[in-house]
Amino acid sequence: MNISIVIMAAGFGTRMKSSTPKVLHKISGHEMLYYIIKESKKITNDITVILHHQSDLVKQEMSRYFTDINYTLQDVENFPGTGGALRSANPKYKKVLVLNGDMPLLEEKDMLNFIQTEGQVIMSSFRCADPSGYGRVITDEQKRVKKIVEEKDASKDEKSVNLVNAGVYLFDADFLKANLRNLSNNNKQKEFYITDLIKIANNQNIIVKAIEVNEDTFMGINSKYHLSKAEEIMQKRIKKRFMQSGVTMRMPETIYIESSVEILGENTIENGVSLLGNSKIINSHIKTNCVVENSVIEDSDIGPMARIRPNSHIKNTHIGNFVEVKKSTLNGVKAGHLSYLGDSFIDEGTNIGCGTITCNYDGKSKYKTTIGKNVFVGSDTQFVAPVTIEDDVIIASGTTVTKDVKKGSLAINRTPLKIIDNFFYKFFGKEHE
Ligand code: UD1
Ligand code: CA
Repeated sequence: MNISIVIMAAGFGTRMKSSTPKVLHKISGHEMLYYIIKESKKITNDITVILHHQSDLVKQEMSRYFTDINYTLQDVENFPGTGGALRSANPKYKKVLVLNGDMPLLEEKDMLNFIQTEGQVIMSSFRCADPSGYGRVITDEQKRVKKIVEEKDASKDEKSVNLVNAGVYLFDADFLKANLRNLSNNNKQKEFYITDLIKIANNQNIIVKAIEVNEDTFMGINSKYHLSKAEEIMQKRIKKRFMQSGVTMRMPETIYIESSVEILGENTIENGVSLLGNSKIINSHIKTNCVVENSVIEDSDIGPMARIRPNSHIKNTHIGNFVEVKKSTLNGVKAGHLSYLGDSFIDEGTNIGCGTITCNYDGKSKYKTTIGKNVFVGSDTQFVAPVTIEDDVIIASGTTVTKDVKKGSLAINRTPLKIIDNFFYKFFGKEHE
């Protein structure tokens, strides 16, 4: 589409009280700025992100996802404020959609709403119960927008207005070019406000159109409290989408699913589950309080209370309670209770007894445990990696496996059990009456 999008992300984000730039704070697994760029890319190829505060860090994080974004630096010394930010953009097309970087809930359809509205200057507003922090929209008797007054500059009467500026605008590029340089910083914050363009348009008899938008979608994230509110909304959206696609969720309000997770086929997700990163769940049952991170779970049941750490691939497998799996491939395995399986490959028909541990780390490096088909691993076994167990092996309970085991064998390394008669009484004294 022949629309330029400018995303303002140069602010300090003081109210976040954090050393991390505001737009890099995450919700549902990704930075706020990631979402707004991702949605913008559905509209246009001309996207400019305006930076200043920790700009290299912001660029570096975004380059993990996007390549063809223009970054420009705001001259904050001479032109602080949202109006100053816009000066550094050089949009390619005739229409410019201006977005705030702290609006992670905005979607393509919301942006289209602006683009489909005719006019030289289009702004957005919503009514809210608590307008604090927002610019107030001042209208005349005909409900036409006259100006926007920032909270810090507002009179008592103006402060009581609950129609607020949502912070998204569509401008004719020519209007911006002609008027950005006319902004003044004659206000409490000594900043150049983009919002003053509304008054300037009015003075030139340009009709300002105001689109009414949804508060939930257009909320600006200024504090950690707002961040948590946006997270709730994003989570509701993600889970609703999955439930509509046929995923059964028990007590969905207790489930946390990050935005890059995929859930395919018929699945049940129980309460308290966290699905993180790029995890993919296919035809599986994830029971209460499991955590799955960057892993694939296929035709399997997991938990309750299991933790599947990154780069695991679990297929046709039963995993029970208190089992931790990391960077492992389990194909047709049963691991019912209380185990640590790290850096391992375990094949079909193998049963992992309770308390099995892959000792994958010697203090310097990580090593791999490979276990073949139909292996019976007795409870309380330790595999001291690197080690390979071939098919059809029995590992006796309590064994520490320190070398490879050939197909068909039994591995056992117990010290014989010694029984000393009456030792209790020798140690503690006489038998109780
Ligand atoms: C802004 C609006 C306010 C509106 C609100 C909606 C102005 C003056 N006020 O206020 O009317 O109700 O958004 O959420 O525009 N930024 C820069 N450079 C700067 C300052 C800010 O790039 O010098 C960026 C920030 O990184 C942020 C966005 O602009 O992404 C908005 O800045 P912020 O300080 O959050 O503005 P608000 O006070 O919320
Ligand atoms: Ca804001």
